[in-house]
Amino acid sequence: MTTYTVGYFVGSLSSRSINRTLSKALIRLAPDDLEFVEIPIKDLPLYSPDYDADFPPEGTALKEAIAGVDAVLFVSPEYNRSIPGALKNAIDWASRPWGQNSFDHVPTA
Ligand SMILES: Cc1cc2nc3c(=O)[nH]c(=O)nc-3n(C[C@H](O)[C@H](O)[C@H](O)COP(=O)(O)O)c2cc1C
Repeated sequence: MTTYTVGYFVGSLSSRSINRTLSKALIRLAPDDLEFVEIPIKDLPLYSPDYDADFPPEGTALKEAIAGVDAVLFVSPEYNRSIPGALKNAIDWASRPWGQNSFDHVPTA
């Protein structure tokens, strides 16, 4: 049986996040051929293009984590009719440097 790895992002930084609880429930319901690993976002600095020439370890770790999975799942609350800033910051990090978007060709939900 081929096993696929899904990297999941929890959009909330709350230590009591119901979205993290929800992600655990989703993992229990998932088919046996899916494995899950959380991709952490809370230690990322705020993204700036100034980092593009020299990514900090947190940014590199994020891109390596995405490169190591077959698909990505976002489990997130809504904040003020949008996604939380911490999640947007992680997406910004992963999408850079220009031409090296970590989400390119990665199935995402
Ligand atoms: C700053 C902030 C903004 C929020 N904005 C919205 C919103 O626009 N729409 C909504 O339905 N809930 C909103 N909420 C409620 C959260 O979605 C809700 O509390 C959710 O359960 C938080 O997820 P968590 O438990 O994983 O942290 C907001 C909560 C916070 C803290």
